[in-house]
Amino acid sequence: MNNLITIKDLSKDDILEIYNRAYEFEKNRRKANHSNAQVVTMFFENSTRTKLSFELALNKIQANKYDFQPSTSSINKGEELFDTINNLSAIGFDTIILRHESSSLIEELVNKKYYQDISFINAGSGTNAHPTQALLDFYTLKKHFGNIEGKTVTIVGDVLHSRVARSNIELLKKFDVNIRILAPKAFIDESIEGITYFDNLKTAFESADIIMALRIQKERIKEKIDFEEYIKNYQITRDNLPYAAILMHPGPVNRDIEIESSVLEIQNARTILNQAKNGVYVRMALLDMILSNKGL
Ligand code: CP
Repeated sequence: MNNLITIKDLSKDDILEIYNRAYEFEKNRRKANHSNAQVVTMFFENSTRTKLSFELALNKIQANKYDFQPSTSSINKGEELFDTINNLSAIGFDTIILRHESSSLIEELVNKKYYQDISFINAGSGTNAHPTQALLDFYTLKKHFGNIEGKTVTIVGDVLHSRVARSNIELLKKFDVNIRILAPKAFIDESIEGITYFDNLKTAFESADIIMALRIQKERIKEKIDFEEYIKNYQITRDNLPYAAILMHPGPVNRDIEIESSVLEIQNARTILNQAKNGVYVRMALLDMILSNKGL
């Protein structure tokens, strides 16, 4: 494995290998030294969790990390991103961690020829894919349940604009998880197959093991959102959250929209912070695999 663009790039065995390696890192039973690696983070969209957990992961595996800032770069003088990356490759950087608003750009970039070999890790591409989020969600679920086959997850909210939902659905299908979607019509993507759609919260939450809330992606939505209607029908509250289910959210949470604020204080919501924590071990594992494959 030299790149990670979507979950489709990974077999079930690859995902389990990332899980096992991440677990070894978490338990301090594995160490890595990638001091020959020169890794650049390039974030064209805002980020807190993904960017900083990649940075911490790089520190922990002793790789060299550099932050490319689009706003102060020569992109602002009109340089095309391919040319920028080709120059970075010539300078001596070997790995790019890229977040971009385009759903397809990273696939185009990965298929181009560079001055020297360069690897790409997708840190979020438009509405299409966020593979490391799905991997850390899988890690969180597997640590909690052991085996996730046959479990039922209800994904709630803005599926249409969610790269997190798409990557999670791809991954969870590989592990035979029952996937339910609860969303208003405006947030449904009918092209996603093999899942069950609900428009009633009570039915969608019945006997669910996992409730996975999604952020409403305000920055990607041009139409006016009826928040009152959304909150009335789809907000996760202390009253409707199933007692035995775990609550997940990729972050950032829009408090009192997707989730009633007070729910974030209760035990079922601790998983949300565990997701953020686990992101570091999963990203260490992924980087360790890719950099080792490159001999770095
Ligand atoms: N979950 C996630 O991608 O969060 P950030 O946008 O803060 O990186």
